[in-house]
Amino acid sequence: MKIAIINGPNLNLVGVREPEVYGNQSLDTYLRQLTARYPLVEFSTFQSNSEGALIDEIHRVGFHVDGIILNAGAYSHYSLAIADAVRAVTAPVVEVHISNVHAREEFRRRSVLAPACKGVIAGFGLDGYRLAVEALLKK
Ligand code: DQA
Repeated sequence: MKIAIINGPNLNLVGVREPEVYGNQSLDTYLRQLTARYPLVEFSTFQSNSEGALIDEIHRVGFHVDGIILNAGAYSHYSLAIADAVRAVTAPVVEVHISNVHAREEFRRRSVLAPACKGVIAGFGLDGYRLAVEALLKK
């Protein structure tokens, strides 16, 4: 079982950035602990602040992993290019948001990626990544 975890802009600052929204723990630390809990799963992790780099990574992993966990940050709300990349690959993609995007500003309520994804997890903090792993393991 291979799972790729792909994170978009500003997620490198989780733990420092708006801790009242995203918490105090760094995403790096959290993901190291999470991936260690699943020794039978082969994980790759990737973060970029650039749209093109995220698309390249989706293309790179998207035909040979069993699932992708994608938090595209603000790109989720408007990147049709990332939505097309999600549609282009064969791996199922689970969209994750740390915060409950539906309880925040109006523009965060719409995801252009969601219709191309297998499912969406939002509002459970960093634990959303674990929930996404569990969802992919059960598929
Ligand atoms: C986010 C929600 C987005 O609206 C925001 O732009 C982010 C993080 C989340 O994980 O809650 O950068 O994707």
